[in-house]
Amino acid sequence: MNLFEVYPLYEVTPVKAKGSSVWDDKNQEYLDLYGGHGVISVGHSHPVYVEKMTTQLQAIGFYSNAVQNPLQQQLATKLGEVSSCEDYNLFLCNSGAEANENALKVASFVTGKSRVISFENSFHGRTSASVSVTDNKNIQAKINTFNPVSILPLNDLFLLESALKKGDVCAVIIEGIQGVGGLDEGTSAFFKGLKNLCLKYEALLILDEIQSGYGRSGAFFAYQHHQIKPDMVTVAKGMGNGFPIAGVLIHESIKASYGMLGTTFGGNHLGCAAGLAVLEIIEKEQLLKNVLTISEYFKEQVKDLPGVKKVKGKGLMIGLEFDFEVGDLRKKLIYEEYIFTGGAMNKNLLRILPPLNISKKEIDVFVTALKNIL
Ligand SMILES: Cc1ncc(COP(=O)(O)O)c(C=O)c1O
Repeated sequence: MNLFEVYPLYEVTPVKAKGSSVWDDKNQEYLDLYGGHGVISVGHSHPVYVEKMTTQLQAIGFYSNAVQNPLQQQLATKLGEVSSCEDYNLFLCNSGAEANENALKVASFVTGKSRVISFENSFHGRTSASVSVTDNKNIQAKINTFNPVSILPLNDLFLLESALKKGDVCAVIIEGIQGVGGLDEGTSAFFKGLKNLCLKYEALLILDEIQSGYGRSGAFFAYQHHQIKPDMVTVAKGMGNGFPIAGVLIHESIKASYGMLGTTFGGNHLGCAAGLAVLEIIEKEQLLKNVLTISEYFKEQVKDLPGVKKVKGKGLMIGLEFDFEVGDLRKKLIYEEYIFTGGAMNKNLLRILPPLNISKKEIDVFVTALKNIL
């Protein structure tokens, strides 16, 4: 059997990783400024993470959601504390798309309505409801086009109210900071207006923090920069530092009922151990502080580089917008300077999503590399 080839691949085969470094099968070291697509939050193979995962696997790796698993409550309690979201309940699942799928479903269950509002350039995943609210027709199959969806420009409260007024909207879903699209984000005034309009027209507000959450923006959740309170928050990527675990934080005003949601693998023992290890490391090593320090340093170092038009994003979710397409630059960074970076729908934008404990020295390596190429 061969693979169903859906990914265009770089010619690199990672076999080992530690902190912000990855080694290929020829023992070449790479600097990881991409974190495997914003997934590596606490650094590759962090010793606390490895120890907790190993111990858990030796005890029990999986049993179903039909029996008690106290690790799930431990994870929910810890996540509530670390994120200051103690008035939410947690539903555990396996991937970002699945988290959004469940959040949209809850919104429809609760309100009895079905239209969803999302925003231009958004990315929410590839399952049915999630892809229907993603602004990219190329990844939607016919079967994904039956949900009523309105995709609106960011930061336009007038158009938002016109759409909500029709009375059929169950949810508005928005990324804390847009990832795949290219690091655009709502203003504080927009987020506040959005929250008020959702209250006025009885639609639920879902914050997709799958990429922007877990400390990446310098706050635990990017929406916390805007002093609002969503009805639901979806998390994945950084949550398990590479182990597939995701979740929906659901405000306690929304009541659960047996059978409303469910999954075979979600909240399994190994996933919870990964989630607990990540939160412990974020807290003990004060990674949010490091994110802010390194972010400031990074932005200072790159702002005057030739070709850099704009530096976008917050914390360690940074977009470098050039006055040219960055495809070749990314290739040179990988093959000549041995540095992983990300791209975006905005072809001129280089996406930087390093582990949250990256150092200034590692940023210097990147800046020197960029200077060499540019
Ligand atoms: C903001 C956002 N939402 C949802 C997803 C989908 O997550 P997953 O690939 O785990 O399904 C992604 C993935 O890139 C994302 O960036």
